[in-house]
Amino acid sequence: MQKIVASLFVAVALMFSASTVFAASGASLFSSEGCIACHTINGEGGSVGPNLSHVGSKRSLSWIKTQIINPSAHFASGSSVTINGKSYMAIMPSHRHMPASQVNTLAEYLGSLK
Ligand code: HEC
Repeated sequence: MQKIVASLFVAVALMFSASTVFAASGASLFSSEGCIACHTINGEGGSVGPNLSHVGSKRSLSWIKTQIINPSAHFASGSSVTINGKSYMAIMPSHRHMPASQVNTLAEYLGSLK
């Protein structure tokens, strides 16, 4: 009986750690933080903002972090901007209250999209 309880405990612990790892992944944050409503990656998402499928070949890690925390540092908010030959209204919301660990995870994920 004790053995069964112990292995159940191990199974639950494994499930829990797997879901924590999943929750922290850049791709899942991209959905859960709402980025996907405005941005497309690999054919999925919105088109209010630029397609980010290859953003890592163009922008540095630190540039991407700044864009997440304070987009108006790059694009005057409300102005019309041209990115990858398309014009957008600069309306990206700032995510200045997002925990630094999440900003890093998201930025590393986007930076890896070459
Ligand atoms: C309401 C729509 C909207 C949401 C939500 C949004 N963005 Fe944006 N994003 C934009 C727009 C519009 C731009 C163009 C420049 C600007 O507005 O600052 C942009 C620009 C960018 C760029 C620069 C792309 C390039 O090629 O230069 C990155 C990177 C980016 N967003 C990442 C994110 C991430 C990560 C999130 C989620 C945390 C997010 N965005 C949420 C609309 C949005």
